[in-house]
Amino acid sequence: MRIAFDPLAGMKLSPSRGADLAGRPPTILVFDSGLGGLTVHRELVRARPDARFVYCADDAAFPYGGLDEDHLVARVVAVMDRLISAHAPDCVVIACNTASTLVLPHLRARFPLPFVGTVPAIKPACERSASRMVSILATPGTVARDYTKALVATYGGGCEVTLVGAPRLAGLAEATMRGETADPAAVAAEIAPCFVDRAGRRTDAVALACTHYPLLVDTFRALAPWPVDWIDPAPAIARRLTQILGPAGPAAEPKPATAILTGGAALASLSAMFRGFGLAETRVEPLPLH
Ligand code: DGL
Repeated sequence: MRIAFDPLAGMKLSPSRGADLAGRPPTILVFDSGLGGLTVHRELVRARPDARFVYCADDAAFPYGGLDEDHLVARVVAVMDRLISAHAPDCVVIACNTASTLVLPHLRARFPLPFVGTVPAIKPACERSASRMVSILATPGTVARDYTKALVATYGGGCEVTLVGAPRLAGLAEATMRGETADPAAVAAEIAPCFVDRAGRRTDAVALACTHYPLLVDTFRALAPWPVDWIDPAPAIARRLTQILGPAGPAAEPKPATAILTGGAALASLSAMFRGFGLAETRVEPLPLH
């Protein structure tokens, strides 16, 4: 099942094929295990307001952070098989670090399409840090990846990098999107290992390496023991999309956008939330996790 690959291939400027649109607006498929990819989706809409967006939350398999690697590869390839044949996207954005750090080479080998991934923003975090102490806040799956370790080795730039795999944060972010209040003590406990204070130096930059976490960034700021730079990769992903597809034309008109759920729990409350992100239609296309 595993494909051997250069662990840093996803960081090179042009790992994907470009898209030949011949002047028509593109169809862009945005994919995550759940609602975190919406933090990327909102930036992509700003970059290409003319595109037809399809957002898929593979909520039947949420959270990806707890799946073993072979299972996750098989799952994402199976869901993508179905989505690509149903929606014929011009470009796919994997708005999930847990999937991107493992599955991108499999997807690129299988589908003749450009894929944009989301991987931990280790290089920007290290470049921005004055104290040279940086933390990467991710899922347990992402911090365990060879890919993530290779990013630290290549782009750590002499910084002390602390990898924090938070087991509960993505679930807490989903709960807030369903209208619940995340327990501040639980959130504080999840982010606490990011804050390292040693020998007169303190962490000053934290990369949000799970797309769910920007949904909670205001809570993180309120609970942080001291201020840090919280780095959200979404603007960089939107820039990468523009490199691949080109900028929007002058007469960019928003197109109807659809959200697809593979499970569909709490659909009623989620439809209103999706509308807030410009996804007017919400559909359940069941794909149980086996
Ligand atoms: N949003 C996903 C990410 O960026 C992960 C959430 C999950 O564990 O499913 O890593």
